[in-house]
Amino acid sequence: MTDEHLDLNPYYQVDSYSKFIKTEGVPIVEAYSVDCLTLPLEPWPRLGGTGAYVHLAGRGDACSCYVAEIPAGGQLKPEQHFHDELIHVVAGRGATSIELPTGEKHTFEWGPGSLFGIPMNAPHQHFNGSGGEPARFAAVTNLAILLNIFHNVDFIYDNPFAFRDRATESRYYRGEGEFRAVKPGRHQWETNFVPDLTSFALPEWKERGAGGRNVQFTLADSTMHAHISEFGVGTYKKAHRHDAGAHIFCVTGHGYSLLWKDGEDPVDTVRVDWKPGTIYAPPDGPTFHQHFNTSPVNSRYPAILFGGARYFISKTRREGYEKMDLSVKEGGNQIEYEDEDRRILTLFESEIAKRGIQSRMGEFVGAR
Ligand SMILES: [Fe+2]
Repeated sequence: MTDEHLDLNPYYQVDSYSKFIKTEGVPIVEAYSVDCLTLPLEPWPRLGGTGAYVHLAGRGDACSCYVAEIPAGGQLKPEQHFHDELIHVVAGRGATSIELPTGEKHTFEWGPGSLFGIPMNAPHQHFNGSGGEPARFAAVTNLAILLNIFHNVDFIYDNPFAFRDRATESRYYRGEGEFRAVKPGRHQWETNFVPDLTSFALPEWKERGAGGRNVQFTLADSTMHAHISEFGVGTYKKAHRHDAGAHIFCVTGHGYSLLWKDGEDPVDTVRVDWKPGTIYAPPDGPTFHQHFNTSPVNSRYPAILFGGARYFISKTRREGYEKMDLSVKEGGNQIEYEDEDRRILTLFESEIAKRGIQSRMGEFVGAR
């Protein structure tokens, strides 16, 4: 059965989210990965500016992404919506104003590498701060699941309900926040705005390997979740797997990721080369994925998804979280270095040798 057949039958498997976005007048790009910096965009009547929906192969059922551009010297239209939204700026400089149910209005300035959350149903507007350059951001939202649950567009975009409990502290809009200690790989930074992901101080997460660092972000008290990981020059992280939906970006360095399902060849199934601006998402299956830094600087990648460290979404997601750095041999979701396919290290060392970078993996993988 084709999707066209589903579209023709109004009584069977109605996908309210897909139906709605087809009315928006912007491209719907289906891809394994895209470059947000060069993605072709079209005028967006509802939002102003230009944009495109991005449906990655691994977007899952709960969330999706769109890329929007604010023209030089311009702004997008004011809006509010009954879905969560986390925004990562990929190019340009500007500002966003957000009005809270308390009547407080916050305006903060952002640039490439910024990350922020829009509190549920809070009126907001985005402005370009430059008269000469456009500004681009990628937004990951849970519109897909919410519109499919309520199947009413006005409920999402014309809903007066005010979430008074989500009017978080003023300082959270100035880039300040609160560290919520849990355990490595689950520590949280609670805020609404991270001005610069490229320099944000990160705690260690040695369990994921190669001296890596990580923090989980709770933004705008949202059920959408973000985290960021960093790993050093000449290193790669351990492979792991989880449900679809994690939209992975890059903010510093460059490299590649290998993706494969159980039984597939780790080094010859899917490879995504990434740099700042790239976005991709490991599909359901779930898909093992492993990230390799081939650049002469530390590499950092944020990921945005539905459900995460703060709020319970499903038993599967909770178990995945608890077991994300536990070996598959112990029922977890991580492949330890000593258990990985030997060709993974060989490929990595040949890739970085081409770029004149020394491998540091000897100190992590041990004797083989
Ligand atoms: Fe992952």
